[in-house]
Amino acid sequence: MVYFSLRRHWIGRIRLALTLFGLPYTVCTAGFRPAISCSSNQPIRTGQTIRASSFSCCSRSSTSIWTMSLSAGLHLKSRCAQYPGSNIKRFPVPDDKVDWSEIWPQYDPVSYTAPSVEKKPEWADPDIDSFSPQFNTIDGAVDRTSFEGIYDVKEGKPLNPRGRTGVTGRGLLGRWGPNHAADPILTRWKVDANREKVHHSDSKRPILQFVSIKRKDCGEWAIPGGMVDPGEQVSLTLQREFSEEAMNSISASPEEKAEIHQRITNLFNSLGFQVYKGYVDDPRNTDNAWMETVAVNFHDETGNSVSELPLQAGDDAGQVQWVDVDSSFALYASHAHFLELVATERKAHW
Ligand code: BGC
Repeated sequence: MVYFSLRRHWIGRIRLALTLFGLPYTVCTAGFRPAISCSSNQPIRTGQTIRASSFSCCSRSSTSIWTMSLSAGLHLKSRCAQYPGSNIKRFPVPDDKVDWSEIWPQYDPVSYTAPSVEKKPEWADPDIDSFSPQFNTIDGAVDRTSFEGIYDVKEGKPLNPRGRTGVTGRGLLGRWGPNHAADPILTRWKVDANREKVHHSDSKRPILQFVSIKRKDCGEWAIPGGMVDPGEQVSLTLQREFSEEAMNSISASPEEKAEIHQRITNLFNSLGFQVYKGYVDDPRNTDNAWMETVAVNFHDETGNSVSELPLQAGDDAGQVQWVDVDSSFALYASHAHFLELVATERKAHW
């Protein structure tokens, strides 16, 4: 069982509001910001450190516009020009037309549901006309509630609570409405040969490291999170996803599995800091399907818990690595923002 500290949770929520500044952003034509891609960043290794050599199409030079956009609560990656894993181009949605309350008769979004979803895998809903989902509630084992509150349902389809995306249908997402994920952020301090904490030369703050995976679907570095299975407790998803993606528990020997399992269980039973809970600005989002997550930080303060275990990529992860927590490292969806919250909480370099 994961124990969340209520106080920390609220601090996290307040910080979330305060620290929605300084995230990367793309310069486009005035008032319009569509071309965020899920393109691969090319991390280069420097010793034990991986650094991103590019920011996808994001530049930090126009932080003020990004700040304006984010402080208005606007999603950006959910409006990326090209829908990931397809040739689908989103109907361009300018900032001032994101909100559903803006009347926009010209809005003509592209309808897209990926072939992999249309094949009706067990993790996906059927087509909307062939079943009767109960939205805004727990529907059988499927959680169709949103952390964002009650969402609208129009003509039988749920509406993205953050507004228009330029695509209808489910795209790559399995569920109509919210698709729930969980993100375990495992951290340790970066130490030198004498096991002393390494401080960053600019910020003078100690450097945190976190377990990062390279996603197979889009090639971007990410937190080793995953989808909450129907009826599954989030605390279980956090541990299961970490085990599958970073420890490759699926292909380890029985002895290794037992050792890994014990250490991970101990850490995941420790007090976790709930970093974020809510909507994720994910490039897979559509007008009718979107990602939400609970991100929790588990910290190995002494470095003798999971820090010592050999990481091994598995499941949806192509690579796995301890990575320095640093604002210059580009990450999937809103993951960089989660790490900024962790760094702030732990008074670490960002
Ligand atoms: C990923 C999570 C991520 C979520 C929202 C899931 O597919 O596994 O790490 O937070 O999508 O982007």
